[in-house]
Amino acid sequence: MNRFTSLKVFSAVILLVSLSGCGGSANFVSNSASMISDQESSLFRLLLILAGVVFIIVEGGIIYAVVRYRRRRNDTTEPRQVYANGPMEIIWTVIPVVLVVILFVVMLNTMSAVAAPPAGPADINVTVVGHRWWWEFDYPDLGITTANEMVIPANANVKLTLKSVDVIHSFWVPQLAGKTDVVPGQINTMWLTAKRAGDFNGQCAEFCGIEHALMRFKVVAVDKTAFDQWVTNQKKPAPAAQTDLEMQGQNLVIKGACVGCHTIGGASAQGGKVGPNLTHLYSRSTFAGGAYPLNDTNLTNWLKDTQSLKPGNLMTMHVPDKDIQAVLAYLKTLK
Ligand code: CUA
Repeated sequence: MNRFTSLKVFSAVILLVSLSGCGGSANFVSNSASMISDQESSLFRLLLILAGVVFIIVEGGIIYAVVRYRRRRNDTTEPRQVYANGPMEIIWTVIPVVLVVILFVVMLNTMSAVAAPPAGPADINVTVVGHRWWWEFDYPDLGITTANEMVIPANANVKLTLKSVDVIHSFWVPQLAGKTDVVPGQINTMWLTAKRAGDFNGQCAEFCGIEHALMRFKVVAVDKTAFDQWVTNQKKPAPAAQTDLEMQGQNLVIKGACVGCHTIGGASAQGGKVGPNLTHLYSRSTFAGGAYPLNDTNLTNWLKDTQSLKPGNLMTMHVPDKDIQAVLAYLKTLK
């Protein structure tokens, strides 16, 4: 590969990589779902346009100068040397200063708009707890604890209280709101309102260890009726096992090591809080910190060997092969 070809390949790769970041459904610039993201999106567009104009003028000037004033074949003498140009220096000082002041003012406005609490009181309070490497969502007023999928009513003012049990994480749902750090020993708060129903992908945005990249979650915004149904279901205790296989699984789970880390059975049930609450596991569509779709194959693989699916995660136990069918059958009743 000659140098020119390498340069072309390099540019193509850079272009591809930078564009691939823009197409996803979590893109807040073209697919915003809240007032906050609208504001952030407008700021981004303004910046992009101003930076684009500056880029074209500056790069255009460079290209023009290089071509127009290049050394010609019959040039024998040095070109005329020029020192300082008053008007030009004033122009290239004043224009950037004006641009920076404009951006500063617009940015301050955006910051205060996105940080301001909504006019009305909170419709829903959710306590978000960051764990390595999954998210716990507690609804203190409703007595619900779930994981990795935060269900909210669309068009409701949601107040989030952010806590961490271990290291610093950052809560980020691009289509709904900006990032807020989740810091151990400190309580941060934020607000969000989804303008429409839908699934909005979230991601931990602060490097927090080996599985930071798989510390994902979803905000599921639904209409009021669907939300009320969800609440009613989540408040129910876990259903009792019916078949022999389910019963066998229930014994393994409830009397085994699982409850050392996981709570199963409802709000009053005993169980650990190190891992996600499993009472209504199968009402969720993902598991393992949003890393995998929740289905029989993935969950079987997980129970066999969690470390191969999410290396370094804190669930170091595995279910022996002979017990997998029973445990899976029981977990599937937890809807
Ligand atoms: Cu939690 Cu990154």
